[in-house]
Amino acid sequence: MDSKSGTETPQESGVEFFFNSAPPLKDRDQISQKLEVFITKISRSSESGKPIRVVCVTSGGTTVPLEQRCVRYIDNFSSGNRGAASTEYFVKAGYAVIFVHRWGSCQPYCRYLPQDSFLDFFDIAENSTIKVCEPHGTVVKGAIRDYRKAVEEGFLLKLSFTTIFEYLQILQMVATSMRCLKSHGMFYLAAAVSDFYVPWENMAKHKIQSAEGPLDMRLTQVPKMLLVLRKDWAPAAFCISFKLETDPDILLQKADMAMQKYGMHVVVANELATYKREVSVVTSGEKTRVCSHGQDHDLEEELIDLLVARHSEHIKKPSGIDMNE
Ligand code: PMT
Repeated sequence: MDSKSGTETPQESGVEFFFNSAPPLKDRDQISQKLEVFITKISRSSESGKPIRVVCVTSGGTTVPLEQRCVRYIDNFSSGNRGAASTEYFVKAGYAVIFVHRWGSCQPYCRYLPQDSFLDFFDIAENSTIKVCEPHGTVVKGAIRDYRKAVEEGFLLKLSFTTIFEYLQILQMVATSMRCLKSHGMFYLAAAVSDFYVPWENMAKHKIQSAEGPLDMRLTQVPKMLLVLRKDWAPAAFCISFKLETDPDILLQKADMAMQKYGMHVVVANELATYKREVSVVTSGEKTRVCSHGQDHDLEEELIDLLVARHSEHIKKPSGIDMNE
């Protein structure tokens, strides 16, 4: 709201329009119930000891459907590997993770499984049972153990999305349900989120016909939800957004801009050509490079360590809620 005129800002009306025109989430009630159970369990465990921190990790790319009965869509680049790896390291650091991921993208504790030759992992033993071929057995055993432990102890909740409509509605639900955690909540927004979309009511109902000739399509800008998240949905939480660019000359400048414009506590800046090997962690007044030490080393290990330390500082501050801290 513009405090002088008392009217909605263009950002606010864009957000309202987006949510009012989005097709309702099919499994809203189930998601809401899962979130309630997860957060209640964490809050109860926190009451009886050290408060447990919760992070919402978003991962994978959102799609923009071009038809209501969707045959074609615009996609966003992201395998989900960063989000999946980060989730594992957050759980290891004692965080409960709400993993909001693109359906079918890379999953925590499954990163070592081959995508294209899944069957090469297995063999048929003499007694006709299925066995995991060595040397993969040890990795798979460890992954199964860690995954089961995370889920059974209530440290991992997975929620999936495909479209930009689903992603932003789920993010809003997660954020408002995490509001009660105050500064112990964290958002780690690694998903690749569409910047443009076709509003549901403007969208062709059926498959667009090529016989009608070349296609002219006007895309509407997706409102940036970072500001709303920070200001309204979960104002006390610690917020980390990502900045992906292909031009290294504008990357850090854009990351700085995101910090100031959206009130992010940290922006992780990465460049498409090197994002697996290197990221820059930008906070107000400081830039830290985090690099991978080789093919088998996840840069997320060091990245999460650094972010956990920053989150601890945020929790200690009495002014965690202030947007202009
Ligand atoms: O999954 P991988 O293959 O491992 O790749 C990881 C990654 C490169 C996708 C990841 O490291 C990354 O950079 N993710 C963010 C990609 C992105 O959307 O960047 P952006 O510069 O377009 O957006 C910046 C931020 O604004 C993002 O945190 C996004 O959540 C947010 N955003 C974007 C659009 C929008 N309409 N609203 C938003 O809030």
